[in-house]
Amino acid sequence: MFVASTYAKKELFSESNPDLVIIHANELVTMNTRYGAPRIGEDMSELSIIKDGALAVKGDRIIFIGTTEELMSKYEFGKIPTKIDAKNNLVTPGFIDSHTHIIFDGTRENELSMKLQGMTYLEILKTGGGILKTVRETRKAPLEKLIKNGKEILDKMMSYGTTTVEVKSGYGLTTESEIKLLEAIQILNENHPLDLVPTFLGAHAIPPEYNDNPDEYVELIISDMIPKIAKEGLAEFCDVFCEKGIFSIKQTRKILKTAIRYGLKPQIHIDEIVDTNGALLASEIRAIQTGHLLKSNIKGLKAMAETGVIATLLPGTPFCLMLDHYAPARKMIELGIPIALATDLNPNCWTESMQMIITLACYHMKLSPAEALTAATINGACAIQKQDEIGSLEIGKKADLIVFDIPNHEFLPYQFGVNHVSKVIKNGKIIVDFDLST
Ligand code: NIG
Ligand code: FE
Repeated sequence: MFVASTYAKKELFSESNPDLVIIHANELVTMNTRYGAPRIGEDMSELSIIKDGALAVKGDRIIFIGTTEELMSKYEFGKIPTKIDAKNNLVTPGFIDSHTHIIFDGTRENELSMKLQGMTYLEILKTGGGILKTVRETRKAPLEKLIKNGKEILDKMMSYGTTTVEVKSGYGLTTESEIKLLEAIQILNENHPLDLVPTFLGAHAIPPEYNDNPDEYVELIISDMIPKIAKEGLAEFCDVFCEKGIFSIKQTRKILKTAIRYGLKPQIHIDEIVDTNGALLASEIRAIQTGHLLKSNIKGLKAMAETGVIATLLPGTPFCLMLDHYAPARKMIELGIPIALATDLNPNCWTESMQMIITLACYHMKLSPAEALTAATINGACAIQKQDEIGSLEIGKKADLIVFDIPNHEFLPYQFGVNHVSKVIKNGKIIVDFDLST
């Protein structure tokens, strides 16, 4: 665990011989946190860029940050085993995808034509499609299949620059199958280069067998699922899909209060389709992060700003639902709500690319490229409470970073629909390399 005392060893760190260095970054976006808290308001635009930047890594940690000139005068360059020339391009912290649903079986490409005919998300769900279709197929899938599916998605995510992923259960909806999903997440975390943060989302939909008595399903979550999952240490967070016709405010409060008692940290999907006062509840229970917030009211947003609840905005979802309304990101920044960005990858909204999400955030929610990058890195790390380890490039933190083949951060959303990654470094090791010239 990275602790404050690591900072005290800064000098010691920087004296050792690096295993890997990166030089000649036109923009080295350090996202230096200073306070260890998410960036809000105007600070979301402050990327703490070093021009002609350089960085040195020992093991899985960053041991030096500065200019190329400073690095060259500090170390014996010839003796460094791995040297990467960023060739005057952009280098940033790895993307943190802080809200995903990647563990499922079966796909839903058939729903696109339903949406094109005007059917809404909840209408598709009512006909047994949507989440419920995925639940039927996921329940049947053996653990090995879920691991295989998850691995394919994680491999793509890493090729697009993501280095840490929050992953939710939620397509099992029985104690046994929710545990199966969380086990798949655990096994992937142990075996895949990316780091995964597990979230229990048993309250994702009312399973058909409880249609006549949803409260009984809430009771199952509270008295059976949460205690077992907490005891096995299978989740860090507990999430609820709080929405009209899914889980009510009262049910959500009950589930999350139980989760907190069992040591799980609370987060909520709120106000995606209808304003149910989810933002107010998020503030009341001090949720760490909330997802969607398309319809949240101003009172709730102000309460979130006061209590520091993070708004994880998921512009891929309104894009896939063909809505003309996105979360009011500018208003949120004005109010001082910390904003993170994530893919929400699920069978309804399927993209592995945080670069695509940054593009949507700029074009549809009017974030600046700098604000979007902050939301996709350090604020994403805060949304999963890992900001002491990842999300910015600082001495003592993990060496999780991206070398791009574009010169600056404004290019990220500007040239869209392509992958700008040249190399990805995770825990100090090169895990992706598209640069054929080296
Ligand atoms: O965050 N809104 C609830 N859950 C997911 C969608 C899940 C699905 O459609 O399969 C979301 O968008
Ligand atoms: Fe989601």
